[in-house]
This record gives sequence, structure tokens and C-alpha cells, in this order.
Amino acid sequence: MTSVTVNLGERSYDIAIGEDLLGRAGEFLTPHLKASRVAIVTDENVHALHGATLAAALSKLETHMIVRPAGEDQKSFAGLEAVLESLFRAGFDRNDTIVAFGGGVIGDLTGFAASVYKRGCQFIQIPTTLLSQVDSSVGGKTAINNQFGKNLIGAFYQPKLVLADTTVLKTLPERELKAGYAEVVKYGLLGDSDFFGWLDANGADVLALKPEAIAHAVATSCKTKARIVAEDELEHGSRALLNLGHTFGHALEAEAGYQGDLLHGEAVSIGMEMAFAFSAQLGLCRQKDVTLVSNHLEKTGMPQIKDAASLLRPEVLLGHMSQD
Ligand code: GLY
Repeated sequence: MTSVTVNLGERSYDIAIGEDLLGRAGEFLTPHLKASRVAIVTDENVHALHGATLAAALSKLETHMIVRPAGEDQKSFAGLEAVLESLFRAGFDRNDTIVAFGGGVIGDLTGFAASVYKRGCQFIQIPTTLLSQVDSSVGGKTAINNQFGKNLIGAFYQPKLVLADTTVLKTLPERELKAGYAEVVKYGLLGDSDFFGWLDANGADVLALKPEAIAHAVATSCKTKARIVAEDELEHGSRALLNLGHTFGHALEAEAGYQGDLLHGEAVSIGMEMAFAFSAQLGLCRQKDVTLVSNHLEKTGMPQIKDAASLLRPEVLLGHMSQD
């Protein structure tokens, strides 16, 4: 197991990364609990696949499972209200702990619910997708969407612990795995050429979930994210680096709609290639770096600009980007 610390003074926390950690969740969570009650917020897919393992691991605690439908729609006022209502009905108080058990949608929704429930209740992230293990579960960004855009209502609210079990990634559909891999590539492009070189040589093993490769990819990504978040928790400066390709990507997502035609990570993959191409056009990066990125995306079978032809209407995309 690898442990990465996010250093934020008294709000510091660890990210535990490794195989088969879900079955040991009780051992990891218990030292952080102020009371023995734990609400677990999850979605129907994760619950069906892994709910019983987590429930068994937490059998010594009083657990309350809140199972929501899967999908981006849950990051809404209606989704938030449903989670809060369930917490009220079960009589949760501020000493209890809320666990986000799922991908980015569940993590964002649950973290935001925890930040406002009775003015703040501690929470723990158990991310179950590659994207949430390397990015969204770390760093305390929580949010819901509204008609004006994604993640526009939210809070910076740090978890007490992130428990990333790489074994659960085996049940992810390939498309979701690749969507998460886009964020892994991002960490290779944020000034870590050794990691990018390693990914270029080992990307196929990461996507095949070879234990050593996936563990290295998740741990290296989390180390970079932890360093950047510790430097600039509230995104006044360097944290904006983590948005590489995201402004293009969010515009593509908005244009595609949020019904699953283009996943966030897929949009980020295309968006990073666009960002490199645009940067080269402005003379800010070398054409050979654009080629390096494009070749890597090509050889790992990641979505690229050429796959998004129907979405590439500049005025429309610029309209979305102005809201980002
Ligand atoms: N996902 C970007 C960030 O956490 O800042």
C-alpha cells in the first residue's frame, strides 16, 4: 500500500492507495470517526457491485446506506436535497461521518452535502473510478451543477481520508477507465516528463490494470495533485494547472450534452490535445510536444480531436468557454 499526504495544516489527510483495501475499510476509517454512525452515499451501480463488501467491512459500525441513481443528473439541487433529506430522516448529527462511495458524481455531491449538512459534517472519500481516484476525490472540490453550467455551486471542503482501492477498478467499463486515464496523462504533462515517458512506455499496462502499473499511475498522480493542492488549495494560482485541457473539454461536454455521449475524461483527452495545438499556434509550445501528446493519445486509443468533428464549431465552443 502507498500513502500520500495532502499537507494542509490541521486539515491534512492521507490518501491510502492499494489493492483490496475496501475489505479493510473498517481499519482505515475507524481512527477518523468521532462517533460510530456512518452514512454511505453511493449509486446503484457501485452499490450492486461493491456495496456488500463495504457493508461487511464496516459491520462493527452503525451504517446507513443512501443509494442514488447513477448519472450526472444527481449533481443537482434535487440530488442534494435527496441526500440531505435522507440524513435528516436517519437523524444524523454533526459528530457522524458521511462517506462518498463512488465516482466523481457521488464524490462531488456527497462532499457538498457534507459541507452544508448542519453547517458541516466530516466526510471520507472512497473513490471507485480511475478518474475519481487520481483527481476528483483529492483536493476538496465539491459541487453540483445548474442550468448555467457545471460545478458552479459548491465548496472547497476537504475529506478526512481518501481510500483508493485499485482492485475495484476491475469492474469499470473500458470507456470509464480510459476517461480516467486522461487525467493520469494530465499529470504527466504538468511538468513531469519522467512520468509522461513512463506512461508512454507503460500506458497499455495501466489500462490493462496490471497491479504494479496501476498502483504507480494512481500514486504518482495523487502525489502531484497533493503537492499542487497543498501549494494553492483555493485555486488562486498554480492549482489552475490542474485544469489543463479542461476549458476546451468543458465546452465540448456542454455541446455534447451531459447524457453520456461524451464523458468528462473523454472531453479532457480531446481538450488537452486542443490546448497543446492552440499553444503551439500561439508559439508557446513546440510542435514536437503537440506531436508527442497526439501520438500518446493515439497509441493508447484515447479520444482525440479527430473523433470530435461534429462538436467543433468554434463560435459555439467559444460561447461555452466564456461561461467556464
Ligand atoms: N480537478 C481539478 C482540481 O481539483 O483542481
